[in-house]
Amino acid sequence: MAANDAAFIELDAVEKVFTVRRRAGWMRRERHEVRAVDGISFQVPRGEVVGYIGPNGAGKSTTIKMLTGILVPSGGRLRVAGIDPSKERTRLARRMGVVFGQRTTLWWDLPLRDSYALVRRMYRIPDDRYRHNLERCVELLDLAELLEVPVRQLSLGQRMRGDIAAALLHDPDVLYLDEPTIGLDVISKVKVREFLREVNTEQNTTVLLTTHDLTDIEQLCQRVMVIDHGRVMYDGSLAGLHAVGESERTLVVDLERELPPIEGVPGARTVRVDGARQWLAFPAAASAAPIVAAVAAAYPLVDLSVREPDIEDVIAKMYAERSG
Ligand SMILES: Nc1ncnc2c1ncn2[C@@H]1O[C@H](COP(=O)(O)OP(=O)(O)OP(=O)(O)O)[C@@H](O)[C@H]1O
Ligand SMILES: [Mg+2]
Repeated sequence: MAANDAAFIELDAVEKVFTVRRRAGWMRRERHEVRAVDGISFQVPRGEVVGYIGPNGAGKSTTIKMLTGILVPSGGRLRVAGIDPSKERTRLARRMGVVFGQRTTLWWDLPLRDSYALVRRMYRIPDDRYRHNLERCVELLDLAELLEVPVRQLSLGQRMRGDIAAALLHDPDVLYLDEPTIGLDVISKVKVREFLREVNTEQNTTVLLTTHDLTDIEQLCQRVMVIDHGRVMYDGSLAGLHAVGESERTLVVDLERELPPIEGVPGARTVRVDGARQWLAFPAAASAAPIVAAVAAAYPLVDLSVREPDIEDVIAKMYAERSG
């Protein structure tokens, strides 16, 4: 392990303050500070996949922009692979890939294939690596039919897969993904997750991922960081996050007929009744099996499903607790 592998990404009290002008009545403008990132510190070892989550405006994209060198921090210290991103953006570019789900890094008028050829020249990717990586991306991200299509004609989900491929053609050590599954259909999401998992296992690529999709986190991330108001609210495992947020899963049962609220199920309480359908909440960390068994033993059950807690709820609850 190289010296900086344990702290491949390293932030120490990093801040980003934006100064914005706001209208304050007729013809007046007030200067106003937005502390988008308000003293964030963490380290990510090489090869780790970290979920960087939080509500809208929390400071996630701003953090990623500083990590890629697009934005210069207003304070604190930041290093990626020992490099200060905003000072040596070009040197770092060779080692990093980035995907902003909201915006493409591809050339709007060019077919994907030509965009990739440009990426290859930009990074001087050796022939064999390029061919190997492109082939793999095309296969795993299902791009074969799309290579000759100009980027502007691609659907959001197709373009996103195209963007992810472009970010990985030069074998980066670190990959930043800002909402990479936004707008993807279920099948594409599965493909993208499988692909990212494979890249991480095979190449030990370090991944920092922002998403509003809990499944992305569950299936990809060993570690979750929750950001709110530019600060780290939580840093640990997903299971731990649920424990902290005391989040609940919901058992949705369809009974044979309309009945009074289900009672007497240990560890669960009925939170909603709508006709023959009832909702029972139970702690997210608990197993659903004994609850299902208890309901099935006492009630005429037709169908059931378990709903996972909504990550936004967990975060909202956590934040309310901390600020309250
Ligand atoms: N260029 C900018 N100028 C002024 N304010 C900005 C700028 N970029 C971001 N902000 C502000 O900084 C805060 C954090 O924004 P950021 O884009 O990092 O949030 P986010 O966590 O990525 O949210 P989302 O989930 O909506 O993508 C917000 O209040 C936003 O309005
Ligand atoms: Mg964002």
